[in-house]
Amino acid sequence: MLPAYISNPSAALFGGGIPIDFGKRLKDGYRVFGDGKTYRGLIIGTLCGILIGLIQNILSPYIGLPRFPILALFCLSFGSLFGDLTKSFFKRRLGLERGAPLPLLDQLDFVFGSWLLSFIFVREWFLNSFLYEYGNVIIVILIVTPLLHLSVNYIGYKLGVKKEPW
Ligand code: CTP
Ligand code: MG
Repeated sequence: MLPAYISNPSAALFGGGIPIDFGKRLKDGYRVFGDGKTYRGLIIGTLCGILIGLIQNILSPYIGLPRFPILALFCLSFGSLFGDLTKSFFKRRLGLERGAPLPLLDQLDFVFGSWLLSFIFVREWFLNSFLYEYGNVIIVILIVTPLLHLSVNYIGYKLGVKKEPW
């Protein structure tokens, strides 16, 4: 999950600039995604997640972990930000302003996004890695991730990288 975990905070660190929706609003009067979703965040975030995975691949003989297929790295990293983007779309449809909290979805959007893309494009790898080879780690990830996410975001908030602690 590390590539999926790294791409989101990388987007927060390096994001900004032109919003993905170019400032457009839908008929409901609200932004498509909002100013918190930018091209720079999406691209640099995806690259950072892939980079971590490549480093893990290089280290794999020494740390005793299997190598990621490249497509799996893309699915985890981009999928994570795709999940985040999809969540923002629905937040705006609910009339929630940028940065407004949406408990649980804020903490798990990127997990669902990375799993969805992996399930579609690298299904065998996904099922082996998350269900068969090491047992069902899906439940563990669903429990641990929100706690991890809240801790990391709190640190990001204290450091001034994030505007809100969630
Ligand atoms: N970010 C970005 N591009 C992305 C995702 C995130 O530039 N594709 C940056 C933005 O600066 C954003 C910050 O990371 O403000 C934190 O991301 P997040 O909490 O997901 O966005 P919010 O600003 O809270 O917006 P939303 O209400 O839509 O979740
Ligand atoms: Mg947010």
